[in-house]
Amino acid sequence: MQKIVIAIDGYSSCGKSTTAKAVAAELGYAYIDTGAMYRAVTLYLLERAIAFHDLPRVEQALHEMQITFKRNRKTGRNELCLDGVIREDEIRQMRISNSVSEVSVIPAVRHALVRQQQRMGRHRGVVMDGRDIGTTVFPDAEVKVFMTAEVLTRALRRQEELAAKNEHVSVEDIVENLEKRDHLDSTRAESPLRRAADAVLLDTTHMMIDEQVDFVLERVSAAL
Ligand code: C5P
Repeated sequence: MQKIVIAIDGYSSCGKSTTAKAVAAELGYAYIDTGAMYRAVTLYLLERAIAFHDLPRVEQALHEMQITFKRNRKTGRNELCLDGVIREDEIRQMRISNSVSEVSVIPAVRHALVRQQQRMGRHRGVVMDGRDIGTTVFPDAEVKVFMTAEVLTRALRRQEELAAKNEHVSVEDIVENLEKRDHLDSTRAESPLRRAADAVLLDTTHMMIDEQVDFVLERVSAAL
């Protein structure tokens, strides 16, 4: 059967990755979490105390670092590796969430990661989630979904995820982080977060995961 690209973009913590992962599993497609890649660059720079405005050093770092995904056979999850080492837990921490949007605004970072994402999806048969997949990475994606949800719902979901990893953060701090990231992501010059003209809007405020997955799968059926 024809293989397509499914682009899932939207605001932070709307359930994009949970939905994308389930859709990919259902279709036997690869799932690529592009946010994890921006988080990995942030971790790399912070660990080496490279200032985000130090462009020559940021460019050198982009050249040196290796971002890959490794499938965990036990969980079936794709885990992010930085220089061959799984760093899933660290990249999800609040300290990374608090800085990632300052890193993802850097054009050199975007160019490097967008190129890598395009290479990863060149054979199609992928579900990719992020902020600019339907607009910049794969403007020709056959299915484009733009997800949104009320900020408090998103914050409560994120709080639960963090608590499961033993990181306890107040709802207020999470709301502040989500609003700051959404603002920076939407207002940057280079591939800002915005709904592609041909993306279908999905508000997940009152939806269960299964309903979100079914919604995307229906779009896929219509596209095939
Ligand atoms: O999806 P996630 O919340 O993990 O993304 C973290 C951050 O990475 C976003 O807030 C955004 O700044 C950046 N990002 C991006 N473009 C993408 C995916 C993520 O700028 N395609």
